[in-house]
Amino acid sequence: MALAKTDASGGAGLLPEVLAFSSSLSLDRQLLKEDLLGSMAHVTMLGRTGVIPKAEARAIRDGLVDLWRRDAAGTLALPDEEDVHMAVEVELNRTIGAPAALLHSARSRNDQVATDLRLHVRDALGQALSSLCGLIGELVERAKKDGHVLMPSYTHRQRAQPISLGYWLSSYGAAFLRDAQAFAFALDQADALALGSGAISGSSLGIDREVTRGLLGFSRLTLNGLDTVGERDFALDYLYATARFLVHASRLSTDLIDFTTPEFGFASLSGDISMGSSMMPQKKNPDVFELIRGKSGRAVGNLMGLLTTVKGLPGGYNRDLQEDRGPLLETRPLLSGVLSVLRLSLPHVTFHPDKCRAGLDEGFTQATDLAEALVKKGMPFRVAYKHVGALVRRCQELGLPLTKATAELARSIDPAIDADALSVLEPAGAVARKRSAGSTGPQAVEAQLAALTSQAGALATKAAAVPSLLVLFEQLSKAAI
Ligand code: ARG
Repeated sequence: MALAKTDASGGAGLLPEVLAFSSSLSLDRQLLKEDLLGSMAHVTMLGRTGVIPKAEARAIRDGLVDLWRRDAAGTLALPDEEDVHMAVEVELNRTIGAPAALLHSARSRNDQVATDLRLHVRDALGQALSSLCGLIGELVERAKKDGHVLMPSYTHRQRAQPISLGYWLSSYGAAFLRDAQAFAFALDQADALALGSGAISGSSLGIDREVTRGLLGFSRLTLNGLDTVGERDFALDYLYATARFLVHASRLSTDLIDFTTPEFGFASLSGDISMGSSMMPQKKNPDVFELIRGKSGRAVGNLMGLLTTVKGLPGGYNRDLQEDRGPLLETRPLLSGVLSVLRLSLPHVTFHPDKCRAGLDEGFTQATDLAEALVKKGMPFRVAYKHVGALVRRCQELGLPLTKATAELARSIDPAIDADALSVLEPAGAVARKRSAGSTGPQAVEAQLAALTSQAGALATKAAAVPSLLVLFEQLSKAAI
């Protein structure tokens, strides 16, 4: 079906192919709710300020409410227009007639689309932030339950030093907390009213942007209309925060993919989340974590896509901005999908304390602890480092783990490495003796978990304060005009 041509689309001679090429309806149909809310707030303001008569404002608002309800009931077939904004205007005109012509007073699709996108981003981020804070809380609970399990940490994917599972879980809590802070920042960036900017320079009609702002629950007005219609910084912040969170989720996934191989054996996945192979009947694959890792690439691509769209644009609105729709609208399902599957999957990962512990012995991971014990006896660290390195090499030659080094063997390298010094090689003690803030020591981990709980709690409160689209609809459908 050929796209209908409105006054907004161009002159009588406009080629249908060009009109079809320009259409964004297939994507921005997803913004219908946001578009209706923006129009409901705008027309309420127009009625209250007397820019249009109150009776007509009410008729338009009732018409918009009717569109929302028909959409919710699945009975709304929008006309095939250039974009969702024109489709709503045409459908409104069809249903309420003449008053519909007043709706677009003091408004352009340029400030309209910026408003729709801000409402969309604010809504998506409110939900994502709340879920991410839930994930952080679950990591903290898991750390309290299983945190005592000892395991190796890795640098260069080589065994490094003993840590607790609580410390490992807390490390991802710390990364996700930064992501939650980035979501909160993006939420603040989106939280400004764009309407009232008009096409670019505002309006000479007696509008009051403060009224529209209050009705849509934004915390401030955008500062300058020329900037407002041409910028998508809030969307870039949203895409960046999402990409970074997914990259962290991808890192966690890679750790778990490795830990669940027989080569590591530290953990296993229950049948609820592991997948099979169409050919190899014995397989139990970590597809869910591979997919999280794979989807993080899409999030990075979306950020790059939008950055590329805005790069090089001159000031003011440019139609290129319509291309923000693809990366932006793909982000919400990507983000909510990864968040919910990650939260669903983590309880189905079981750690095996014996295997984790075995990884410690085989890796000579307590070598630094022995060197630090010698430092406590007064030996300069670099000297201790050399002696312990020599002891490790001797043990490797003899095929012994460091914990089996005899006092005699140690003494043959340096008399200072006595039985007392060797006693620090017990991994539980090595972890317990870590005292510095941010370390794997039990008290330090406890402090980390407390910080995660309180900071994620504060951010969850911020997320809960974001008004849902449905709540906004209910308020706007009965706001006084
Ligand atoms: N479909 C357009 C978009 O999404 C709406 C704005 C069109 N503005 C214009 N001046 N042609 O960006």
